[in-house]
Amino acid sequence: MDVTKKVLVVGGGGREHALSWKLAQSKHVDTVYVAPGNPGTSTETKIVNIQIKATDIEELIHFAKNESIDLVVVGPEDPLVNGIVDKFTKLGIKCFGPTAKAAQLEGSKAFAKRFMQKYRIPTAAYQSFSDPHAAKEYLKNSAYPMVVKADGLAAGKGVLIAENFAMAEKSVDEMMTDKKFGDAGTTLVIEEFLEGEEASFIAMVDGVNILPLATSQDHKAIEDGDVGLNTGGMGAYSPVPFVNDAFQKKIMDEIMLPTVHGMADAGMPYRGFLYAGLMISNQNEPKVLEFNCRFGDPETQPIMMRLSSDLVELIQACFDGTIESFPIEWDERTALGVIMASSGYPEKYATGL
Ligand code: AMP
Ligand code: GLY
Repeated sequence: MDVTKKVLVVGGGGREHALSWKLAQSKHVDTVYVAPGNPGTSTETKIVNIQIKATDIEELIHFAKNESIDLVVVGPEDPLVNGIVDKFTKLGIKCFGPTAKAAQLEGSKAFAKRFMQKYRIPTAAYQSFSDPHAAKEYLKNSAYPMVVKADGLAAGKGVLIAENFAMAEKSVDEMMTDKKFGDAGTTLVIEEFLEGEEASFIAMVDGVNILPLATSQDHKAIEDGDVGLNTGGMGAYSPVPFVNDAFQKKIMDEIMLPTVHGMADAGMPYRGFLYAGLMISNQNEPKVLEFNCRFGDPETQPIMMRLSSDLVELIQACFDGTIESFPIEWDERTALGVIMASSGYPEKYATGL
């Protein structure tokens, strides 16, 4: 394999701490730079924080060129959707993640729904709208609850589960007319409400082949007993007891393989971490709630804790097109991550503490 001495991790959350912690353990790596990193990454050996924002692609390129970075690993969706992989690749710097086109799977919910419909990937029935009157007319005649989603990136806040028409109508006004999420709300996806158990399915993809990672599940509600507001995840654990080998195969056959083959067929082959957020019905039928073009946060933390293999070698296998046959090894023990959040999260809360 190529020599990979210097790695740049893009992002500053718990996910990027876990990724850089794992990358720093690789026998191929001398130094992991994290942009911007966080107080956690600053305490690790072989890890150096650099003060560049994850969204500042030009500065990241400048740094990577100056430091002769061998591999870039991108944590969050923003830079991926904005083409960080395309830009690094053009300069001949290896950057792990999907291209801007492939990252549309997360960057545009309308794109993802159209794609799933075309390639017969199970997901909630939906309509998309760019006219608020048409959206309201449709919602007036719907059975509740209904789910209203901003098409674009909205930091995990662009989804509303409407219990009735009044709530749904208000969300259309907020997203489309008041531009609560900026341009992300120009188009809305309105879909049926699915019931069941949510699970995350995360894999490494080399454009053609897929290697599923250990199963994980995040805990969405802020309060004990699942009664609080939805968050990006208050913690996560791995493995998930209800996702056994047979069920994992079903998810691969019905969702992951058609997705990766469909993306290649559509001329936008997918390389990177691919995350399918699933709703599993009481009849054990999985449907896609969303795709993420990146690793989950906080799912990364317990998964990295359990990964025994060398992450640099796994990523290299994605560049070589050999991920499917990678002899990945896991620690059998369960791993659990807990988020400590500022009081008031996910609404109004203090940051920088
Ligand atoms: P998303 O960003 O699309 O995954 O939506 C965020 C959260 O909203 C999901 O993790 C689910 O808890 C919930 N959600 C999204 N779509 C649906 C749906 N069609 N039915 C029920 N819950 C949903
Ligand atoms: N934990 C949910 C996500 O990463 O999107």
